[in-house]
Amino acid sequence: MVLPDDVRAAPTELRMLTGDRPTGKLHIGHYFGSLRNRVRLQNQGLDTLVLIADYQVLTDRDISADISGHVEDLMLDYLAVGISPQRSTIFAHSAVPALNQLIVPFLSLVSTAELDRNPTVKEEVAAAGRGAVSGLMYTYPVHQAADILFCHANVVPVGSDQLPHLELSRTIARRFNARYGEVFVEPRALLSPVPRLLGTDAASKMSKSRGNAIDLSATADETARLVRSATTDAERRITYDPEHRPGVSTLVLLTALCTARDPHDVAAEIGDGGAAALKRAATEAINEYFAPMRRRRAEFAADRRYLREALAAGNERANRIAAATLGRVREAMGTRYGPNVGGVA
Ligand code: TRP
Repeated sequence: MVLPDDVRAAPTELRMLTGDRPTGKLHIGHYFGSLRNRVRLQNQGLDTLVLIADYQVLTDRDISADISGHVEDLMLDYLAVGISPQRSTIFAHSAVPALNQLIVPFLSLVSTAELDRNPTVKEEVAAAGRGAVSGLMYTYPVHQAADILFCHANVVPVGSDQLPHLELSRTIARRFNARYGEVFVEPRALLSPVPRLLGTDAASKMSKSRGNAIDLSATADETARLVRSATTDAERRITYDPEHRPGVSTLVLLTALCTARDPHDVAAEIGDGGAAALKRAATEAINEYFAPMRRRRAEFAADRRYLREALAAGNERANRIAAATLGRVREAMGTRYGPNVGGVA
């Protein structure tokens, strides 16, 4: 990954915030699209906060039925890939009241027209009709701004679909600072350079809801089965041509990512071996690459207490940061009434 100069020059002066909604197990598309970069940045010494956005799934009733199970799965995937509770603050935003309180002044800085224009909100409205979109869904970009701004994150690695949210976070930071005085830094997006991986159906991006994903935690046999059933095409010679041969090229790319090689070299090597040889190579490469992570995940899964303690420690640190920020916000707004009023000195 090519890092901007200042990230490379002074990584320890930067604070990174990233996060995921707890919707179930993560898959290898998440891994190559974002997790791998996060772990690299963490290991380069950035102060890293990783958010489990549990309030953000409240609008989906199927998922919110088992939030704690999904949070546990997400924790396990994080620990398995190398996000370390010693180096990173992993926290759930529902456990950080002061973070959520920021939403109140932030909402006052945003117009309903701006929310209407937000692409995510727009999609939801288009899909469900305005009357069916909950207030939480409608204001979710503002919530996300609180996630980012509460800790003064200056680096936010995201996919391009999240850019409008980041822009709104910057706008809110600017408006708050202009109205009440400098409190917030404007966060910057770090776009992931990895192309989006298609799923095994070769028709759309890898996603749990489309049933075309290979989970990080899949067994070697499950992986073999999923790859065997992946869509390819009738042409025997394997080439890397994502535009015209999405199925074949997805498997070639996965093999290349797992073996740190160029996809064209991988394709050339398989050559006239056809889809069967490609699938064998992809299965072997995926299973080999993820084996240590899958092993670690199983070890962590056997130690629930460690999981709970790691999350509790992350929540505690996030609470300290959020309380300090809310204190500054209340100071700036002139709503700090005494040392102990509201629990924030
Ligand atoms: N909306 C993000 C997603 O669906 C998750 C998220 C919530 C997030 N708050 C965030 C990502 C803050 C980055 C920063 O993936």
